[in-house]
Amino acid sequence: MLPIVIASDHAGYSLKEQVKKYLEGKNIEYVDLGTNSGESVDYPEFAHKLCVEIQEGRAEKGILVCGTGIGMSMVANKHSGIRAACVSDTFSARATRMHNDANVLCFGERVVGAGLASELVEAFLTTEYEGGRHQRRVDLVNSFDK
Ligand code: RB5
Repeated sequence: MLPIVIASDHAGYSLKEQVKKYLEGKNIEYVDLGTNSGESVDYPEFAHKLCVEIQEGRAEKGILVCGTGIGMSMVANKHSGIRAACVSDTFSARATRMHNDANVLCFGERVVGAGLASELVEAFLTTEYEGGRHQRRVDLVNSFDK
């Protein structure tokens, strides 16, 4: 299985570090693409870096953390083949896997705490895409890549 890729900006740095501890506790392999401190950086650069890893086949799923999760998701969804979901509840984290086949999970350090973030990650990583009636819709989503 390919490693999970994870990245944040400065506003998501601390929560990214906590999510890494969760992944380590579950023996889930990950690659941290930065940022590596709370020093101010630009979230689009980190979202782009992570999406390229998925587009080029070095990862299947990614996790992006910023202040809100919103900026990261906006940037991620401009990349073809990326279906990013910004979530702050476990129902949505599960549903976006089952219905949208989301491959990038985004959330905000200013929105969710570390406990909830771990639950979002667990739901995202353990829930399978349902396919079936959703495939036509996911194909339509992907058609806008072109
Ligand atoms: C940084 O202050 C903040 O704008 C960023 O982390 C994010 O929330 C953008 O959507």
